[in-house]
Amino acid sequence: MRVLVSGGAGYIGSHTVVHLTAAGHDVLVVDNFGNAKPAVMARLDALTNTHIPVHAFDLTDRDKTERLFATEQVDAVVHFAGLKAVGDSVQRPLDYYENNLQSTFSLLRAMRRHGCSTLVFSSSATVYGDQAPLPYREDYEPLQANSPYGRTKVMIETVLRDVAHIDPSWRIAVLRYFNPVGAHPSGAIGEDPQGIPNNLMPFIAQVAVGRRDRLRIFGDDYPTTDGTCERDYIHVEDLAYGHVAALNRIASTDEPIRTWNLGTGRGTSVLELVKAFERASGMPIPYDIVGRRTGDLPASWADPTRANEELGWVATRTVDDMCADTWRWQSQNPNGYEDV
Ligand code: UD1
Repeated sequence: MRVLVSGGAGYIGSHTVVHLTAAGHDVLVVDNFGNAKPAVMARLDALTNTHIPVHAFDLTDRDKTERLFATEQVDAVVHFAGLKAVGDSVQRPLDYYENNLQSTFSLLRAMRRHGCSTLVFSSSATVYGDQAPLPYREDYEPLQANSPYGRTKVMIETVLRDVAHIDPSWRIAVLRYFNPVGAHPSGAIGEDPQGIPNNLMPFIAQVAVGRRDRLRIFGDDYPTTDGTCERDYIHVEDLAYGHVAALNRIASTDEPIRTWNLGTGRGTSVLELVKAFERASGMPIPYDIVGRRTGDLPASWADPTRANEELGWVATRTVDDMCADTWRWQSQNPNGYEDV
């Protein structure tokens, strides 16, 4: 299939481009490079041994989106593009609602006009909110997120369900990611956050490589095994392959829309992740325990049974693999893509 990957220069998008290409798909990328570096594209060409065409514009531009579909054959879309920082979304909610919703609307309209009805959408475990029982299951309702970022995911999921309800020719996969970490085993592509990382794994990696002095651990008085928060970390390579599996499934089903969790089903605490990273890198990770971060839940992990059974997909990489691959990427590229 000819697959358009929106946000294909980003962290999860770039890894998915490699897996889609390896599975025999012909991939093209659209990215506004708002939170991604153009240098990633040359790395993707080298990793895939082909040329991945890239269209550099913002999908909120309906005319440009329409022109893309008018000039390129597109059989399916994997839609990653969007703003994704939780704290930032609290500071500028309008930007998040406008960007994440408008880009999806442009895409859906252009797809409809040009006869493309196959879509894989990047959602997030954040849609389960703070009331859902563990482990999170896809049929849990009501969905409610506690940040504007998370609410854009809930809203888009709702839009997709309404669209698929009235037009059952759609084939839509909604994928709810848990905590993506890790990097391609080559070390050629990985996560390259702008500024100070908000998320745990990139922060740890930057401490290990000497870009930051110390990690701050947000709270050790949670009701968990060691008092620090537990999360379902999933290797980005497993996650990327989940998109290939979802695309295969929706191309051969008569269900207009279906949701799958992509997680391992296991929780790992902050302290366990720090220790695993020290083992994988051989570097000490000095840390201080500080107060809780507003909005953090004690624990979050998936019930991945539905994806295991229906997609034939299982996350196979361990936390040690996640740390080893993150470290390979970070140590080979201490300043991310800026080193190019
Ligand atoms: C957040 C978002 C999630 C998003 C994910 C990946 C929420 C509530 N969370 O998940 O939607 O998909 O990022 O982008 O919507 N921690 C520290 N020190 C740090 C950073 C983090 O101790 O410097 C701790 C946090 O308190 C948390 C754990 O590490 O317990 C994981 O944090 P993080 O990597 O930011 O992920 P989430 O908050 O789970």
